[in-house]
Amino acid sequence: MTPDTTYQLLRNFTSPVVAITSERAGRTNGMISDSAVRASIVPTVPRLSVYVHKFNLSHDMIFESGRFVMHLLRQDQFDVIHRLGFVSGRTRDKLAGVAHRTGRLGAPVLDECYAHFECRIVNVMDTGSSTCFLGDVTDVGYGAATAARGEVMTAAYFRANMPAQWRKDYEEHLVAAQRFAEERSRDIRSVVWRGATD
Ligand SMILES: Cc1cc2nc3c(=O)[nH]c(=O)nc-3n(C[C@H](O)[C@H](O)[C@H](O)COP(=O)(O)O)c2cc1C
Repeated sequence: MTPDTTYQLLRNFTSPVVAITSERAGRTNGMISDSAVRASIVPTVPRLSVYVHKFNLSHDMIFESGRFVMHLLRQDQFDVIHRLGFVSGRTRDKLAGVAHRTGRLGAPVLDECYAHFECRIVNVMDTGSSTCFLGDVTDVGYGAATAARGEVMTAAYFRANMPAQWRKDYEEHLVAAQRFAEERSRDIRSVVWRGATD
């Protein structure tokens, strides 16, 4: 099996497309992920996990603040994915044009989404190129569009239906992240989660 075929098969394990927001020392940011997973089967101990690449500004913001907000998106929210997932917050304030409020944990909650989940980190796992964050879900809510929430945006739906003019940027961003990850993936550190540092 070639690495490319293996990667295409691995794509079957992608999650719904989520927007993840963070806040550190007064600065807010948002990114997109398709590696979020329910991490608890206990209704009274709701948990989510997600892999965030060290390539992304969000990584350090989440690691240092110990919290994040994960948003399931509606199937019509291509614009949010484009805004948050195609460029880094290192170059601009990506949440400037996105309606949001401050959540109970202090990170931004997007008004428009399918649902949001505020999370406090309880453990992490280093992968070399990324960190898997395990979060306790401390607050949940639906997005503003109560009448027609529709379907949740999946990774497969996004890849199949994104506007054609975005595809080149999407592929280039992915290749850059893959190169960064390839250099670091075998350097797995023993990271002990001792809490937020900001
Ligand atoms: C559909 C899609 C899925 C993505 N999945 C992930 C992911 O699982 N983990 C990750 O770290 N970045 C993922 N990204 C990339 C980040 O969203 C992107 O690098 C973003 O620009 C990071 O912004 P930041 O530097 O402001 O944190 C994804 C992007 C898209 C469009």
